[in-house]
Amino acid sequence: MFAPDIYRQRRSALLSLLSPANQGLLLFLGNEESPMNYRDNVYKFRQDSTFLYFFGIDRPGMNATIDLADGSATLYGEEMTIDHVIWMGPQPSLQELAESSGGLNIATPEALPARISRGIGSNEPLHYLPAYRGDSILNLIRWCGKSQEALAAGVSEAFIRAVVALRSIKSSEELVQLEQACSRTATMHITGMKTAKPGLRESDVMAAVRRVPLSMGADTSFPIICSKRGEVLHNHHHDNLLRSGDLLLLDAGSESDLHYAGDMTRTFPVDATFTQKQREIYEIVLGGMETAFGMIKPGIAYRDVHLAAARSMTEGLQQLGLMKGDLDESVAAGAHGVFFPHGLGHMMGLDVHDMEDLGEKYVGYTDEFTRSTQLGLKSLRLARHLQEGFVLTVEPGIYFIPPLIEKWKATDAHSAFINYDKLEAYYSFGGVRIEDDVLVTKDGYKILGTPAPKSVREVEEMRQEAFS
Ligand code: GLY
Ligand code: MN
Repeated sequence: MFAPDIYRQRRSALLSLLSPANQGLLLFLGNEESPMNYRDNVYKFRQDSTFLYFFGIDRPGMNATIDLADGSATLYGEEMTIDHVIWMGPQPSLQELAESSGGLNIATPEALPARISRGIGSNEPLHYLPAYRGDSILNLIRWCGKSQEALAAGVSEAFIRAVVALRSIKSSEELVQLEQACSRTATMHITGMKTAKPGLRESDVMAAVRRVPLSMGADTSFPIICSKRGEVLHNHHHDNLLRSGDLLLLDAGSESDLHYAGDMTRTFPVDATFTQKQREIYEIVLGGMETAFGMIKPGIAYRDVHLAAARSMTEGLQQLGLMKGDLDESVAAGAHGVFFPHGLGHMMGLDVHDMEDLGEKYVGYTDEFTRSTQLGLKSLRLARHLQEGFVLTVEPGIYFIPPLIEKWKATDAHSAFINYDKLEAYYSFGGVRIEDDVLVTKDGYKILGTPAPKSVREVEEMRQEAFS
């Protein structure tokens, strides 16, 4: 945990955003253990990130409230009994947890529904965030006596906006965690580059990469993508045999000690060097990334950065003969979507897609931006103007997705901009994505974590190590 003062200050910042205009009770739902195939065989526990941010208590079965009237904060949870100690060893008491969280009242789990029902009886507003786990939703239904639909409609927008405002700007102690997560993540990628060879399976590389955070007492920040079928954007299958001539796309990240995320992607040849075809596409993606880096600073809309990266990659694909036509018209029409069907990046923090549970429309969009329906832009999670202290990913990519190309070709979609006859030669190419994590600074950006090879020369030098 951070020092107790950090949690006290975060709660007090929340109160100063909410108390003047609001009355009532703020509810923070912690997570429960999550069964895999029967109740006692559980997935690895992951605490709710907003709960971690304001309370830091990394234990299942905890909930908390803050009373807006007097600012008092209460932790609800079960005291450890000898039965718990037998199975789990000695654990901190509720009082100790409350102290390390900056001072909280403590209460039994049963006291929470009683407190909520007392509030409902006296028309006290209950402010809660969107629940995303089945057991949290069931608890809310039981405690509030409302349907799931009514509860979803009744989430507190003011509460969401206040949490997003605080969690979006990373403090110095959070940046230490994010640097740690990103440096671990870089080590995962270097390990991948040192491991992959023809004759191994994707799962061999995935396992070597996964070992990095595990050996540091941490875990991954999301399921690893390690695939020579890089054109399948979130491919979680690792059973392909790596062969000479393949490209391997590795999208992987570690958590820090306090569960902050790293999220990087590297794409490299299974041989020691890129083929010319691979290098050409790789350089175009790298050019899109450099274009994005050249623009990142406070005040710029990330939607414009996304479109500039798309323009740069369109230009590169035109030079290669795969696209054609007027550059600006091509970007405006979204013709590049067939190659770049996702967004340039997302916010990152305690969650890899930071605060996605609270709603992307509050995190990545403001009232100035509406979500586009165009392929590519519709998956852009972050469009808003950047602020100093934001942490986000930059992850351009070019993919050759035969079913998508065939679908567009069949209707002559954007045929003024796409040379469909040149694309068949790329049907077994796969895809290239390159991703770094950056902090928006006062006048620019900073890449987080220790460096991982990225230029063609750096990647090829690192790949030599797999063969030496
Ligand atoms: N790295 C996984 C994602 O950004 O969705
Ligand atoms: Mn990402």
